[in-house]
Amino acid sequence: MSQTIFSGIQPSGTLTIGNYLGAMKQFPELQDEYNSYFCIVDYHAITVPQDRLKLRNQIRSLAAMYLACGIDPKKSTLFIQSEVTAHAELAWMLQCVATVGELERMTQYKDKSEGKESVTAGLLTYPPLMSADILLYGTDIVPVGDDQKQHIELTRNLAERFNKRYNDIFNIPDIKVQKVGARIMSLQNPTKKMSKSDDNHKATIFLLDEPKQIEKKIKSAVTDSEGIIEYDKENKPGITNLLNIYAGFTEQTVEEIVSQYEGKGYGDFKTDLAQIVSERIASIQKRYYELYESDELDEILDHGREKANFVASKMLNKAKKAMGIGRVHLKR
Ligand code: TYM
Repeated sequence: MSQTIFSGIQPSGTLTIGNYLGAMKQFPELQDEYNSYFCIVDYHAITVPQDRLKLRNQIRSLAAMYLACGIDPKKSTLFIQSEVTAHAELAWMLQCVATVGELERMTQYKDKSEGKESVTAGLLTYPPLMSADILLYGTDIVPVGDDQKQHIELTRNLAERFNKRYNDIFNIPDIKVQKVGARIMSLQNPTKKMSKSDDNHKATIFLLDEPKQIEKKIKSAVTDSEGIIEYDKENKPGITNLLNIYAGFTEQTVEEIVSQYEGKGYGDFKTDLAQIVSERIASIQKRYYELYESDELDEILDHGREKANFVASKMLNKAKKAMGIGRVHLKR
């Protein structure tokens, strides 16, 4: 039997090229090799406030985007997290395995709660929900960006603790990050991760941006005053980030790109990069707009829900049994 991969994306805004290069881009190749599940994790999105009408559109939009980026419903299972109730159920059970201390140590929780007078309990208990997503499918590999490392580590710990304490039912998953693109940075502050929810829109290229916007954002990307195209994360984070984006969209290595632009300035480099990104994104967008409107999208999600439900409910029952949840049937 082939191995299983699982990955999820939050429908918390339009996808960025960070999401694409860090996660989405590798999915189409992986689905040829693995038993693959891709999820629109809408329960994760409500850990912070969302506009309900926008959220519903973003869920559909993300489903269309997965397909536009190359997910093939004949090879992969694409579904919405809230339509498979086992996720919320196992999440609760794993919250009873996790400790408050380890959840409070998650850097994402610390970042998102910093300076806030009050945050939801869901923001704290977000990681066990992610663990439930992964563990329900017997996942072997989780392809994600670099920022999810700590969550995968926690998932491994929770699975091992559960197996030891109750019964050995969960597979221990491994993380898979891209060599290039695992951490795409903000165009305005290249020491900070590019994010869907950055208030400064100039910092982020969205997969639905028009070529003009892409050009403007890349041209105004923060670099340095040296004017030499070199890969140096410490001292030249801006140009290094742009080199990663270039490499991610072209399949050229960073070394090849650096030698190609020897003696040239940032202006030429940025002009070419804007064109490369726009061209690649244009082909995704064309398919995206067709799919968003289609009935086919609903059929794919219905089918995904059935398949995911079937697999997840089996694992949920094993977990319930292991923990002693539910009714005992008397032998008469
Ligand atoms: P999310 O929605 O923030 O991001 C989706 C995917 O995109 C990657 N990513 C990035 N990669 C490179 N550079 C960036 N700037 C960048 N920003 C985001 C993320 O690493 C991720 O792979 N907790 C997850 C969603 C989730 C999940 C799961 C993932 C829920 N359950 C189960 C895997 C398995 C998240 O918030 O991703």
